[in-house]
Amino acid sequence: MTESDAPLLQVVHLETGYGDLRVVRDVSLTVRGGQITVLLGRNGAGKTTTLRAISGLNKTAGGEVRYLGDKLGDAPAYRRVARGMAYVQEGKRVFRELTIEQNLVLGGFSTRVSKKKLIAAAQEIYEIFPILGEKRALPAASMSGGQQQMLAIGQALMAKPQLLILDEPSQGLAPVIVGEVMERVHALKATGIGILLVEQAVQDSVAIADEVSVIEMGRTVLSGRAADITLEDIQDAYFGAGAAV
Ligand SMILES: Nc1ncnc2c1ncn2[C@@H]1O[C@H](COP(=O)(O)OP(=O)(O)OP(=O)(O)O)[C@@H](O)[C@H]1O
Ligand SMILES: [Mg+2]
Repeated sequence: MTESDAPLLQVVHLETGYGDLRVVRDVSLTVRGGQITVLLGRNGAGKTTTLRAISGLNKTAGGEVRYLGDKLGDAPAYRRVARGMAYVQEGKRVFRELTIEQNLVLGGFSTRVSKKKLIAAAQEIYEIFPILGEKRALPAASMSGGQQQMLAIGQALMAKPQLLILDEPSQGLAPVIVGEVMERVHALKATGIGILLVEQAVQDSVAIADEVSVIEMGRTVLSGRAADITLEDIQDAYFGAGAAV
């Protein structure tokens, strides 16, 4: 077995929700190092709630989240961050008045290293997202929505995570830009990190996926290797077998 075969993250029959309200009832998925798992599902299916439980923001009420071989139980979010999880939340906004570089430096703040080292770390982000390097001294507000999304991802990468969790990075972007953002996310695989990507842009995200999971009403209804799953399978999982495609 190569290293990338050992799962980085394993979610097994997860149950979670808000207070007594159980919205995720049975979700299972796997993320491997250097690979992308795409989590799909309709509005309100429980995608964000699943990510919140993985990140420690919502309590795991049943099942388990295993990360780097350990059961996380009720470990708080900051401990999960310290162990290399980075979570870019849905609708994440950057600090518009700050420069791109200032935004990146803030992203690495939790690592407690010097500002000088953080500026050096930002250079690695510019290699991944060259546009951020070109505009490093400009306010974030001067960038397009797609570029700001890349900055939000770059901020998360400043903590040098092993697992990057992205909640709908294509949200609010023009369709023509979505493919570009997906292409950049795909390029991150080369760094060896594992990526859990929640998306509504089914075709664009499945195109870069190694594994696909579809949830409906808080339950996993389809999951497997992307190579073994067709868009028709995904549509059936969304709408029930036999629905018009
Ligand atoms: N803070 C909250 N308190 C109570 N219920 C919530 C809360 N946030 C979400 N929910 C409910 O949990 C269910 C799942 O929501 P969730 O945000 O996980 O869905 P989602 O799949 O991410 O949807 P979307 O594609 O719209 O982002 C929905 O019924 C939603 O109304
Ligand atoms: Mg959501």
